[in-house]
Amino acid sequence: MPAAGPTPGGDGLLEALRDVVGHAHVLTDDHATAGYRVDWTGRFGGPTRAVVRPADTDQVAATLRLCSDAGVPVVPQGGNTGLVGGGVPRDGELVLSLRRLDTIGPVDPHTPSITVGAGVTAAAVQQVAAGHGLALGVDLAARDSATIGGMVATNAGGIHVVAHGSMRQQVLGVEAVLSDGTVVGHMAGLVKDNAGPDLGQLLTGSEGILAVITSVILRLVPRPTHTTVAVIGCATVDDALEALTAVRRARPLAVEVMRAAGVAMVAQHTGVSVPIDPVPPWLVLVEVEGGGDGGGDAGSARLVDAVGDRPTALAQDAADARRFWQLRERHTEAINARGVPIKLDVTVPLDRLADVVDQLDAIVPGAVCFGHLAEGNLHVNLLGDEATAANEDAVLRLVAEHGGSIASEHGVGVAKVAHLHLTRSVEEVEALRRIRRALDPAGILNPGVVLPVTRSGR
Ligand code: FAD
Ligand code: MLT
Ligand code: ZN
Repeated sequence: MPAAGPTPGGDGLLEALRDVVGHAHVLTDDHATAGYRVDWTGRFGGPTRAVVRPADTDQVAATLRLCSDAGVPVVPQGGNTGLVGGGVPRDGELVLSLRRLDTIGPVDPHTPSITVGAGVTAAAVQQVAAGHGLALGVDLAARDSATIGGMVATNAGGIHVVAHGSMRQQVLGVEAVLSDGTVVGHMAGLVKDNAGPDLGQLLTGSEGILAVITSVILRLVPRPTHTTVAVIGCATVDDALEALTAVRRARPLAVEVMRAAGVAMVAQHTGVSVPIDPVPPWLVLVEVEGGGDGGGDAGSARLVDAVGDRPTALAQDAADARRFWQLRERHTEAINARGVPIKLDVTVPLDRLADVVDQLDAIVPGAVCFGHLAEGNLHVNLLGDEATAANEDAVLRLVAEHGGSIASEHGVGVAKVAHLHLTRSVEEVEALRRIRRALDPAGILNPGVVLPVTRSGR
């Protein structure tokens, strides 16, 4: 665990911050700041001069104004579940924790939408939305800790992108604070609104380098009353892709992919048994709306139709469905239990997937691969002797050569900065840099994240 940083040439700054957020919400001692200084995987982190915990937009604005004036760099942080090191300090930056911005509601049942503070967790939104027969269209295994601010800032994807898109498609309004303390907000919450470029969409996926998100209006979707879950065994990548194409006709809510070795690791870690014996090389988990009865359009009928004669386990009840999902969603913790991974999160064009996997297996045969099949989003986890910079570089180059993305849904953070050039042109990076300079002239927001630091330090 990295140690807390020295008190800044800024006892004065800390005192001013205490006046803004209250003494109890400027944390400086090692013990109190520990959970804010290191990321979920244990791979990223560093010292901080202080963790500041504002309660509302005005306190965020006052905090940023003070930091801008003092030239003190700031790392915005939500639930600290990010996997690319963008939400933890690297070198003494101040951590701005947004978790206390936790006001939730109101729900507009007609649009339908919900207004929430940046610090509200995905699970809390789901709970309130469920009370109205609605749901947030994005869901992910980190739901109990990941905050809406962090999810918008990373344009989080997750398990329902095939049905509802990523966070970008859920965002109807964003209020944010620029580094000089200016509050910019367009919180009309309109589904159609083309009155010029959309600042909220610009901030979606900006990973804390352009502004600090304080409040969001999210689109909601109808909550399915029943769903059917199945695990389909596939012999090869091509077979899994054929299953995907067939299953698309069943209007899936989720189409996820796992490999035998990863599933065996999760089964051992969790005690959950694998529902297909012998375990096939590839397992595709599918969830569709609708239960077991209701005639030809029932979820189970549509699924059975789609899977053909592949070995398939159809969940018989909610407990089965939960077990199937655990095999998929607990990959991350099972990997962590084996050591600190290098986590690669790539998109591969689906027509290149089989080739890429073949070549991947030649480079890193022990990698744990799973992900979101419908989007070609593979999570490639390197562990032990395979967790080297050379292997990371080889895998990312392979993906880029095949027209994929080196940062699918987790973002760039600090982890992928050195590889950004593989998927972004020099001109694109320069344009992003200009936008950043315009919105954050002091250059205090998340330096070193997304954009490579230049010789001028910006
Ligand atoms: P943090 O980790 O705190 O921050 C992430 C980034 O956003 C940082 O750059 C930070 O500076 C910035 N940020 C945070 N809050 C704000 C704000 N209010 N304003 C401006 N910038 C801000 N991700 C997926 O996309 N799909 C998945 O399926 C998925 N599954 C996961 C499963 C597990 C078990 C874990 C641990 C992580 C998973 N993730 C997944 C990654 C992570 O949950 C997401 O990136 C999530 O969006 C991060 O939210 P957070 O609140 O934890 O943000
Ligand atoms: C997931 O889909 O479970 C995640 O994005 C987390 C991970 O990559 O470990
Ligand atoms: Zn994922």
